[in-house]
Amino acid sequence: MTSVPNNKTNLFSPILLGDLTLANRIIMAPLTRNRAGEGNVPQDMNVDYYRQRAEAGLIISEGSQISATGIGYPGTPGIHSKAQIDGWKRVTDAVHEQGGRIFIQLWHTGRISHSSLQPNGILPVAPSALKAAGQAVTFQGFQDFETPRALNSDELPGIVADYASAAQNAKTAGFDGVEIHAANGYLLDQFLRDGTNQREDNYGGNVINRMRLLMEVVETTIAVWGGHRVGVRLSPENSFNDIRDSRPQRTFSAVAEKLSEYPLAYLHVLEGDMQSGERQVDYAALRHCFTGCYIANNGYDLERGNSVIERGDADMVAFGKLFIANPDLPTRFAKNLPLNTPDPATFYGGDQTGYTDYPKY
Ligand code: PHB
Repeated sequence: MTSVPNNKTNLFSPILLGDLTLANRIIMAPLTRNRAGEGNVPQDMNVDYYRQRAEAGLIISEGSQISATGIGYPGTPGIHSKAQIDGWKRVTDAVHEQGGRIFIQLWHTGRISHSSLQPNGILPVAPSALKAAGQAVTFQGFQDFETPRALNSDELPGIVADYASAAQNAKTAGFDGVEIHAANGYLLDQFLRDGTNQREDNYGGNVINRMRLLMEVVETTIAVWGGHRVGVRLSPENSFNDIRDSRPQRTFSAVAEKLSEYPLAYLHVLEGDMQSGERQVDYAALRHCFTGCYIANNGYDLERGNSVIERGDADMVAFGKLFIANPDLPTRFAKNLPLNTPDPATFYGGDQTGYTDYPKY
């Protein structure tokens, strides 16, 4: 029998994003770990954590607030102060020394915050004054979400400017690119989905209006970074943070089509519901509304990751919990090695335990 060369594209195939070559398609998903230091500055253990995971084709950092008012949780890093830029530079240097690539996720949490986390105790902001069901994580423990203050139309250019300056700071900090977080019930997603956006100006109502703020953020970020260094994350039907859209397939097909007009590095989609895994949206159809590279995320493993790429329904796959527990995930996948089990008790906050002490194989 003659052997057939295995030249199928899969998780282990390199990929070119513009002029950036990724060694594989195994992407580290953005993961909130609440372990930044004083001033929300990345510290030594954060440098170690990302260095350990540099085998990923691309690391997408944890969500990092673009401004002091963008914050939604204790201990999340920012990208708006000089000290934060310097802290992140140590992270990007460590990843690059290992031959890795890293984008920063730009985050504004909108109504998923609390006045006790905000400068001068001001109310969190949102597209509309609609309170989320559930509780915020604060320094005083869990507290009910508050009714946010609806942003005035004339404040939106200031939000876009905060993204532009965070994008510039990310460049100074040595990142390879940025991901715009427009998923999971945070500010840009609050504009996209009709359950949280009841605005009557041209940022609310139909889907063209609801996606306007995201597109302005995309344009200003591309103006800083150039083409193929900016990705966007969406989550059409994730109910996390008490959010929903009445017609997710239609809304997010329109968003994906519009995003195709920009030279993005990728579209990154959290498919289905983050907690239940339930899926009603047809993601293969959604993927084909977007003409660029697509990262699939949520509940994939080695087998499903390879098969979604082989089918042409994704170009890359992002892994979250598996990367928490397995710093050398690409090696383990390539050699079919057993995986460490993630410990949910140490996901959020704490020290090196459950952070930098998961062993490589
Ligand atoms: C979380 O804190 O669990 C979290 C944060 C940001 C996300 C998703 C989940 O986008």
